[in-house]
Amino acid sequence: LRLAVLASGRGSNLQAILDAIDTGALHARVVGVFSDRAQAQALQRARDAGIPAQALSPGCFASRPAFDAALFAAVDAVAPDLVVCAGYMRLIDADAIAPRTGRIVNIHPSLLPAFKGLHTHRQALAAGVAEHGASVHFVTAELDGGPVIAQARVPVLAGDDETALAERVLAREHPLLVATLQLFAQRRIMLREDGVHADHEQA
Ligand code: GRF
Repeated sequence: LRLAVLASGRGSNLQAILDAIDTGALHARVVGVFSDRAQAQALQRARDAGIPAQALSPGCFASRPAFDAALFAAVDAVAPDLVVCAGYMRLIDADAIAPRTGRIVNIHPSLLPAFKGLHTHRQALAAGVAEHGASVHFVTAELDGGPVIAQARVPVLAGDDETALAERVLAREHPLLVATLQLFAQRRIMLREDGVHADHEQA
């Protein structure tokens, strides 16, 4: 399974993917890492792993659609089977998503459809929920609105602040993302008209 990873920052989810490939837990290959920020640590993680890494600056493009067209031209050049948004902090233009529907996934730190957008842990604490977590979903034109593929749940504990909750969720994001990508590698996940189909029976 050829993966292209989009990341804007630290890249701990990217690192979880790279580590799982190294241990054999994930039967995939990261063929390129792309960022909207030249200083993203994720790019350095890619280079350290000998993987092509490229930053494109939104400021160099006249519009979001122009940036996304350039970004996905670079992504297409490495011919990925699946694009993984892992800490990618930009909305992707609908015209860039449309031809790739079912081939772009995102990991979002909430139990979607709850708490879309940013500062999800702050939202969860403010809402006073007892449970929080992370979701891997297909990317559509609606921010964090695509069909959910898999989720991981964590308790919200008394005394939790945003940092504590974020750490508890992040620790579950990594195995969730790896396990979900492994389902793709085993061709067990399909996005059909009526939603996500996961074939868990397959040997
Ligand atoms: C993760 O919590 C991810 O769910 C969210 O931003 C964070 C990125 O972390 N989109 P990292 O860059 O993968 O460490």
